[in-house]
Amino acid sequence: MSKRGRFITLEGGEGVGKSTNVAFVEAWLKQQGVEVILTREPGGTPRAEAIRALLLDPSQTEPLDCDAELLLMFAARAQHLAQKIVPALERGAWVVCDRFTDATFAYQGGGRGIDPARIAQLEQFVQKGLTPDLTLLLDMSPVAARARLEGRLRDQQTQRDRFEQEQDDFFQAVRQAYLSRAAAAPERFALINAEQSLKDVQATLANTLEERIALWR
Ligand SMILES: Nc1ncnc2c1ncn2[C@@H]1O[C@H](COP(=O)(O)OP(=O)(O)OP(=O)(O)O)[C@@H](O)[C@H]1O
Ligand SMILES: [Mg+2]
Repeated sequence: MSKRGRFITLEGGEGVGKSTNVAFVEAWLKQQGVEVILTREPGGTPRAEAIRALLLDPSQTEPLDCDAELLLMFAARAQHLAQKIVPALERGAWVVCDRFTDATFAYQGGGRGIDPARIAQLEQFVQKGLTPDLTLLLDMSPVAARARLEGRLRDQQTQRDRFEQEQDDFFQAVRQAYLSRAAAAPERFALINAEQSLKDVQATLANTLEERIALWR
């Protein structure tokens, strides 16, 4: 039987460079000869992506209840775990995921104000003890990150999604929630200064991966 794969997540607020850098992490791991699958949350499978669309859709006028939002996040996650993440890890592939449950603690907990103890109950119910082996937290000021995002919104002419429409205090709370989770679990988290140039962020990521993976051998 092949050895179980490793589960690596990238986290951080809007526009910090998660999607840019998941691709870098994937390429770096492939270079080491590892089989990698790249995925994202909310989403990652057709049904979970349908839930993502429901979560992000800015065009609905009916407000989305905070608890409904939280449960939809975990519904998508249950589907993603069952159909994609767990089977990949079991066959020995590594999984690199753009956001995971830390984002739920940061956005629905820090941002929306839901008690983290309730989120932890759902985490246990859905994940049954499965947590990432390494979480790369891209941290920077939300104001500076928003400036990056403005560029992207302009280039792609896309409408802001439900989360992108939130205000600065929401994103400050998201950042603080991420930082306190990282401080509480330093063995799982690596804190990356995302305000650096992309080249420097990626050099930091490569060093971090090298160091952490050495501990797993
Ligand atoms: N270190 C960097 N310096 C400058 N610009 C960057 C850096 N990293 C990423 N960018 C640019 O910032 C924008 C946002 O990056 P990206 O889409 O990867 O962020 P994200 O964290 O995935 O955002 P979202 O939360 O909206 O999914 C992109 O235009 C990207 O090219
Ligand atoms: Mg992204």
